[in-house]
Amino acid sequence: MSATTVDYRNLLAIGEGEEGVDPQRLTGDLASRFRVAHEEVERARRDGCMGFFDLPRAAEAAARVRRAAAGLRGRFDDLVVLGIGGSALGTRTLRDALGAGDPVRGPGAAAGPHPRLHVADNIDPHSIGTLLDGLDMRRTFFNVVSKSGSTTETLAQYVVVAERLAGEVGPDQVRKHLLFTTDPERGPLRALAEAAGIPTLPVPRNVAGRFSVLSAVGLFPAAAAGLDVTAVLRGAARMERRCRTDELTLNPAGVVATLLYRADVECGQRVHVFMPYCDRLRSFALWVQQLWGESLGKATGLDGRPAATGPTPLPAAGATDQHSLLQLFMEGPADKVVCFVTVDAADDPVPIGNAPASWPAFEFPEGHTLNHLITLEHAATAAALRTGGRPNLTVRLARLDAEALGELILLFQAATAYAGFLYGVDPLTQPGVELGKRYVHGLLGRSGYHPPPLEEANHPWQV
Ligand code: PA5
Repeated sequence: MSATTVDYRNLLAIGEGEEGVDPQRLTGDLASRFRVAHEEVERARRDGCMGFFDLPRAAEAAARVRRAAAGLRGRFDDLVVLGIGGSALGTRTLRDALGAGDPVRGPGAAAGPHPRLHVADNIDPHSIGTLLDGLDMRRTFFNVVSKSGSTTETLAQYVVVAERLAGEVGPDQVRKHLLFTTDPERGPLRALAEAAGIPTLPVPRNVAGRFSVLSAVGLFPAAAAGLDVTAVLRGAARMERRCRTDELTLNPAGVVATLLYRADVECGQRVHVFMPYCDRLRSFALWVQQLWGESLGKATGLDGRPAATGPTPLPAAGATDQHSLLQLFMEGPADKVVCFVTVDAADDPVPIGNAPASWPAFEFPEGHTLNHLITLEHAATAAALRTGGRPNLTVRLARLDAEALGELILLFQAATAYAGFLYGVDPLTQPGVELGKRYVHGLLGRSGYHPPPLEEANHPWQV
């Protein structure tokens, strides 16, 4: 049974004088619009361009990942993923949502049966230095993840790590601490692996970086950290099945994509807030931010015409941001639509108990729990936004376990694919990041590249 429901009541005009979408449109023009986008996605799937839909059923690839992950058991206390963007955010989502790795204990604490999982997704010298200084390199394994195999940040991390490893375990032992996840045939990381005898796992060609969490990119570190990747894939497969229909009101990803798209293009609600009421899903919100932003922000449409399109995704956290961003959402510009994510059942609901004094502010009816309270906080916030004419929808999980997370991941990946075709852009590319990359090569002095123009550090236009 599916754990996921999309509640879009707060985007509809149902009651007297309510603003929002006329429900008849869900079987009228919006349904037709979605059907076209769905068909375009299906065609892209048939053409082999949308490999992420097939990952939940890629049994052989998953078995290979599990075998590689099992090889780490008992040999390493820490597993560090080196990667960035789509090569890191999905892994962090799996780790944080499913609670493995226990980063709270820190690298120095005693290890459990599985290595602690760290995701180093930046080149900030302080973060990398602090992480590496706290690790016993003899008991640490590094998974270098880069689909292209050429991302400067990831390769720099790798070079730093390889040198430390060589110093601490000896040059001939370095490769026993490494696994590269990269393109099956191409790229510098693949070439290095072949030359140095470093084991690898492939990222399928037809799976774009930010859609790759259910490939070896996310599954290997998750499995090595002891997470139930089989259940994640089972949940994702279930959601993939639910998304096969082109009937809008039956397709959860279709509803999310179509209503957020419509909020943007018809109402100027182009800030799309992703706000889980669950700390374990904070990383998920950052993952969606990248997925939505990088996939839909495009200069050129599928028809080759200038598009300059794309909503701005904004991650937030409930209930915390009720005391931060909510004021802006309620009373600031009406340019936002909020997508909440909630979890009905908590593993540990934490009873609130009896207050020490009988002041009203401390009164919680008997039997209330923190889980009940956070659920009420979401309901109250969604209703307040609705009353204030601020649209919102809620993706509700019955529980947060590996299967439910798999459903949630596939739901948002499919929604992003549909949204791409609704906006009329290719959701799988990211040409806008290339120029910056070329400038970095230029600034590093690499041949064939130029630094950015106007690069003098001492120009007068600074104060
Ligand atoms: O979604 C994408 O394609 C990007 O965000 C990439 O994941 C990111 O740039 C890292 O690329 P790579 O995996 O090639 O190192």
